[in-house]
Amino acid sequence: MSDWVDQVFCEDALAGLARIPDKSIDLILTDPPYNLGKDYGNDSDQLSVEAYLAWTESWIDRALPKLKDNGSLYLFLTWRHAPEIFVMLKKRMTMMNEIIWDRRVPSMGGSVRSFSSVHDTIGFFVKRKDYYFDLDAVRIPYDAATKKARSRSIFVGAKWLEVGYNPKDMWSVSRLHREHAERVDHPTQKPLEIIERMLKASCPPGGTVLDPFMGSGTTAVAAKRLGRHYAGFELNPAYCALIAQRLAAPEVPVKKRAAPRKKNKVAVIPGTAGTDFPAKAGTHAEVDRTLGMDSRFRGNDGFNGNDSSVDNESHALTTQGTPS
Ligand SMILES: C[S@@+](CC[C@H](N)C(=O)[O-])C[C@H]1O[C@@H](n2cnc3c(N)ncnc32)[C@H](O)[C@@H]1O
Repeated sequence: MSDWVDQVFCEDALAGLARIPDKSIDLILTDPPYNLGKDYGNDSDQLSVEAYLAWTESWIDRALPKLKDNGSLYLFLTWRHAPEIFVMLKKRMTMMNEIIWDRRVPSMGGSVRSFSSVHDTIGFFVKRKDYYFDLDAVRIPYDAATKKARSRSIFVGAKWLEVGYNPKDMWSVSRLHREHAERVDHPTQKPLEIIERMLKASCPPGGTVLDPFMGSGTTAVAAKRLGRHYAGFELNPAYCALIAQRLAAPEVPVKKRAAPRKKNKVAVIPGTAGTDFPAKAGTHAEVDRTLGMDSRFRGNDGFNGNDSSVDNESHALTTQGTPS
């Protein structure tokens, strides 16, 4: 097996991509920095818009030649920059879907001058018409009630009723909170449920997925769980260690038990342990305590987990000058 297969290199993807032979990859599945000001231990998410778009174009031009002709690309983005990046990609590939990931953010006040942002935008692109796509692997079974409602003779033997339905392009999956068993210490970790659906649909068993921006390694973990190969990069050595840990035990641990919620106890804000910084009634920390959430991952819409888009708002105001 080649020395780049099933490896995550702790280095800059733009240099490291030279390791990967052209036309060797079945699927590029990646979740790069959204340029929303997140702290990944580097400045990758804190560029000017012009620099971010130029950087995006440059990794895209290094990554796309690695795809086989029947390969595909899934790219996570924020609505703030998706339009420009989709235009960039449509000059190079065919766009099949814009998938909306509804992060299931409950409404708890927050934005007052715009609608709260609760989704990520995912572009699905292919190189050619004969791209690999296994819909049957990701169909969603109909529930018993739906099947029963379609028990009339005209539906008997209907294949679509048996095999389940197409997941469509709106995916409603909760972002990961602290109490989710698979959650690790990365601010924008994506749920395995989403990544695994993409892999099953667009990377054949035994095929290889490339993720230039591994973060906590969700793509590699999903690949390992599903019998696919992986390759990728991550800049931050602490995240590289996390990836190694996750790959050593790719099964999802048993669900964490929610921390007991005592009514009249002051909360210590995560990350300030030892300072005894109490949560005042009505503050984010107090709400977090009630919900068992981690306020380090909060955006400014009043309710947030490892959520990139919500953080947009403060970033747009401070970095770009004008709210959109
Ligand atoms: C949005 S996160 C990926 C999260 C990942 N999908 C997960 O589920 O954990 C983007 C990651 O890209 C990394 N990164 C940024 N610039 C990079 C570069 N030039 N090369 C490699 N990794 C980079 C960041 O450190 C960050 O961890």
